[in-house]
Amino acid sequence: MQFTVAIDGPAAAGKGTIGRAIAARFGFAHLDTGALYRAVGAKGGDPVLAAQSLSAADLARPDLRTLAAGQAASRVAAIPEVRAALLDFQRRFARAEGGAVLDGRDIGTVICPDAEVKIYVTASPEVRAHRRWLEVGGDPALVLAEVKERDARDMNRTDAPLKPAADAVILDTSALGIDAAVARAVALVEARL
Ligand code: C5P
Repeated sequence: MQFTVAIDGPAAAGKGTIGRAIAARFGFAHLDTGALYRAVGAKGGDPVLAAQSLSAADLARPDLRTLAAGQAASRVAAIPEVRAALLDFQRRFARAEGGAVLDGRDIGTVICPDAEVKIYVTASPEVRAHRRWLEVGGDPALVLAEVKERDARDMNRTDAPLKPAADAVILDTSALGIDAAVARAVALVEARL
């Protein structure tokens, strides 16, 4: 069976939590596509070459979740050749036998426009910054500024900007809370299966 769940949205909206929960519930494979861009950014050197030669070891780096890695990721993610180099891997993952959940920024719009389920997860910048701050610590004002800067860069780039697919279901996790959002996402997948 091929079945793709596309989850998009801005940083720290809850995409990963929802994606992992769906994967566990239905036995689907899960790909955090942000990790690909984080690994390219962290590798340094020419980002296009880094994307073309990405390895499992690059994806296992312990420093991928830092604020600096997030910023580096969003800078290299604006380069069309970087995105092109990562496209086939993501599409193959999405159509692998047994079902797949991918979370990112352009899954429902560019990578898997035919995904069976598309969810756009969002929350206010303040709520998302607070969640990210619980994860990384440091100065809360700096974390909020980082979230807003990354939103602006991801939403305004020319190639594959962050936006909901026309047929995506919007889940606002600032109003809903993560548990209720997971329950809604599970219900959407169940209805489509
Ligand atoms: O989701 P995460 O915060 O790990 O993503 C890091 C950065 O990678 C994002 O800010 C975005 O610029 C980029 N990204 C992307 N397309 C995706 C996933 C992530 O451009 N599908």
